[in-house]
Amino acid sequence: MKKKVVFILGTRPEAIKLAPVIEFFLKKGEFLVEVCSTGQHKEMLYQILDYYNIVPTIDLKLMVDNQSLVGLNSLALVKISEYLSTSRPDLIVVQGDTTTVQAAAMAAFYNRIPIAHVEAGLRTNDLYSPFPEEMNRLVTSVLSSIHFAPTTLSRDNLLREGHLDSNIHVTGNTVIDALLNIKKKMSNGELDLVKFDFLDPSRKMILITGHRRESFGDGIREICQAIKRLSNEYPNVDFVYPVHLNPNIKQPVLSILDNLKNVFLLEPQSYLSFITLLDRSYLVLTDSGGVQEEAPTLGKPVLVMRDKSERPEALMSGTSILVGNTEKSIYENTVRLLEDHLQYEKMSKAINPYGDGKACEKIYQIILNYFNENLNN
Ligand code: UD1
Ligand code: UDP
Repeated sequence: MKKKVVFILGTRPEAIKLAPVIEFFLKKGEFLVEVCSTGQHKEMLYQILDYYNIVPTIDLKLMVDNQSLVGLNSLALVKISEYLSTSRPDLIVVQGDTTTVQAAAMAAFYNRIPIAHVEAGLRTNDLYSPFPEEMNRLVTSVLSSIHFAPTTLSRDNLLREGHLDSNIHVTGNTVIDALLNIKKKMSNGELDLVKFDFLDPSRKMILITGHRRESFGDGIREICQAIKRLSNEYPNVDFVYPVHLNPNIKQPVLSILDNLKNVFLLEPQSYLSFITLLDRSYLVLTDSGGVQEEAPTLGKPVLVMRDKSERPEALMSGTSILVGNTEKSIYENTVRLLEDHLQYEKMSKAINPYGDGKACEKIYQIILNYFNENLNN
């Protein structure tokens, strides 16, 4: 009888990083595959799932406007547990560090269902930064039987915490699989390229994203003030900002940056559109995890608007710099990159510390072996 694997996801980055894994499992046909969406995100999740033609087996539709961490977490725990107690999979697969991931891991634990964790072992070693993601990662690692670490540094973090070497597998990050697939399809002409007619190809473009809880309040206002100042002082540079739908971000961004001539505030973009923008950009200002992993592959310097990062690989390879989220630091570091060509050249080397684009295949094979070994024991 086929083993049943349930993929549980709820937000945009989980969909981007799990969709190619789900696609791979479906193509192979060896497992019964189900997809459970918590619906932690609504619009931003379906932008990705629709692109991959993934229709969840069940959508728990949990998102409410401006949801609280406790409200979402407790609802997700109850609803995922109800689903797992009837679906009874042999394994669940989760990705990353969101509330969905942590609640799914807890629900699987209470139902005595083993957990495989994709993108395991990322750490800042500060429980409150990023908040609540560092806690989500720790809890999920404690509960998981299989850890798919994207890099050797993330494997080392897990070993330091006492996880067994035999349960940790370095696979690369599945975001590289997603990125390389889309790049290949773009260059083969398999996808209709998105045109951004408002952008003049002869002008430099700075791409911006930001959404972290640590930046709510003063942080996001400082980020916006820095962009406003830069846009005034560099009228020949375009600033493109697909704004996250979280009201704690959307409101200050719209109130500070709306109606500036060279600042383009966009709705969240489809993955294809976003990668097109990233490819077209000169440099990136972001606090996003996924964008820090994608940009080095495309040779785009990243100024990370955070104080701590769980992605030291890009910092060490010199393609990213941590600049914090104060107006002064974001402004000064951006000016340096715009003015200093040597510094820009140094940072814009295409380096990819996050894998070879074969993470999905490795994950599939390891899960296959996991069931074969358990059968033989
Ligand atoms: C969540 C994750 C974060 C991840 C980010 C990716 C947690 C605690 N946070 O943060 O780790 O980096 O997603 O984007 O799990 N909203 C919509 N439509 C959407 C999505 C969000 O309207 O499609 C609005 C809603 O008002 C929602 C709010 O954004 O209540 C916050 O969503 P939530 O998932 O709680 O937090 P994020 O900031 O998106
Ligand atoms: N992304 C996207 N559309 C956008 C902005 C980002 O598809 O408008 C993609 C981006 O390429 C990356 C992912 O979303 O793969 C990052 O998601 P997010 O910043 O929401 O979360 P994080 O990675 O910080 O958890």
